[in-house]
Amino acid sequence: MKQRKEKIAMLTAYDFLTAKFLDAAGIDVILVGDSLGNVIQGNETTLPVTLEEMIYHTKIVKRAVTNAIVVADMTFMSYQVGVKEAITNCGKVMKETACDAVKMEGGDYIAETVRRVVEIGIPVMGHLGLTPQSINKFGSYKTRGTEKEEADKIYKDSLLLEKAGCFAIVLEKIPEKLGAKISRALKIPTIGIGAGPACDGQVLVTHDMLGLIEDFKPRFVRRYANMAVDTKDAFRKYIKDVKDKKFPALKESY
Ligand code: KIV
Repeated sequence: MKQRKEKIAMLTAYDFLTAKFLDAAGIDVILVGDSLGNVIQGNETTLPVTLEEMIYHTKIVKRAVTNAIVVADMTFMSYQVGVKEAITNCGKVMKETACDAVKMEGGDYIAETVRRVVEIGIPVMGHLGLTPQSINKFGSYKTRGTEKEEADKIYKDSLLLEKAGCFAIVLEKIPEKLGAKISRALKIPTIGIGAGPACDGQVLVTHDMLGLIEDFKPRFVRRYANMAVDTKDAFRKYIKDVKDKKFPALKESY
């Protein structure tokens, strides 16, 4: 697709129905992101998500999908300890979920792990820039790579990940110029989230683009629906109808 200059559309899913709708709509890649820690579990960060929870959600998503590539996020501490643990856990995810690939956050310090995991036949998507599993190191969710030193590091890491065998790299919340520079330099596609229009594809958290998370609206999120408003409205109408004895009507009864 990169060679054809065809942009890659990726969104997240954590459940059967959303995955089914995304696949039917023609999405290229479905990410079972560890953002499930935030949007499904209500945690502040992605850190508490366990490998077992990721496997559970990826299995459900995979069951709904016939066309899209399904990528499972490797959870915090399931691949950072060492190559052996990473291979075991990536293998477990692939075996138990039948997903197509895994995603890992980080640069030079995971390059060797990526190389070994790819070598045994597991496709790996990288993730650079703002890497939410490192939130306690960063201290905030601010844009990464705005200073030259960090921008150079992200750029070098992208080259290392490509060399290590990643088939694509997510670039999160970095300056648009850096997103463009990396996308030009790599043969593999970049998938941007807040990384500018020059990336070879784009990803958003589905709950954000559907307008389900009302109090989260960073600049990079475009809302394609207002589902929080519509859902709350539907709930209020239903409650009122029950209280007012307007639901069910006779035609809705047996
Ligand atoms: O967990 C996730 O949803 C992600 C995307 C934001 C890329 O990693």
